[in-house]
Amino acid sequence: MAKSKTPKVIGVEILKKNGLNVDKLIKELVFNASVEFTAYYYFTLLRANCTGLEGEGIKGIIEDARLEDLSHFESCIERIYQLGGTLPKDATQFIKMSGCEFLQLPKNPTDLKSILEKCLKAEQGAAVNWDRICKMTHGKDPATYDIAKDILAEEIEHESWFLELIYGRPSGHMRRKYPGERPHTKKHSRSLDSL
Ligand SMILES: [Fe+2]
Ligand SMILES: [Fe+2]
Repeated sequence: MAKSKTPKVIGVEILKKNGLNVDKLIKELVFNASVEFTAYYYFTLLRANCTGLEGEGIKGIIEDARLEDLSHFESCIERIYQLGGTLPKDATQFIKMSGCEFLQLPKNPTDLKSILEKCLKAEQGAAVNWDRICKMTHGKDPATYDIAKDILAEEIEHESWFLELIYGRPSGHMRRKYPGERPHTKKHSRSLDSL
């Protein structure tokens, strides 16, 4: 099909009129998507290395957080394209931009304390990332804000799970009903429903 000239996108125009820097938002969303995607991969490795009797319970918590990171990645994609952005063509560039190397397996790969500390650091970083998007979009872009605040709600839950495991700080949480439940972001990542 022949290419038509650049279309007028009202969904983006209104955001600019609302005073939103759309290019900056796209950059932040692609960065956050890369962090979620890479964290999903590294959490897979970390979960696999939770061995023994003690590791068995931790494995389940990491699995809940891991599958919700995949949901966070999925939750970004449609919005990035609606805003006029794209994901990078080069997957290695996408992974690199996340800066998640700190999530690689510890020296002793099955050291549970080190694994938990890495998980906590990842959750805390993610909470800061999504809070930044909440601040950028609040009162200007309700569609992106809705996604960001739902992801943030899950990151705060994940942080509290790992704080409990490391420090004994009560989180008040009950386990998810099933892995991948994603109570806040389910509506943004419906592509995962058929799994
Ligand atoms: Fe996440
Ligand atoms: Fe998380």
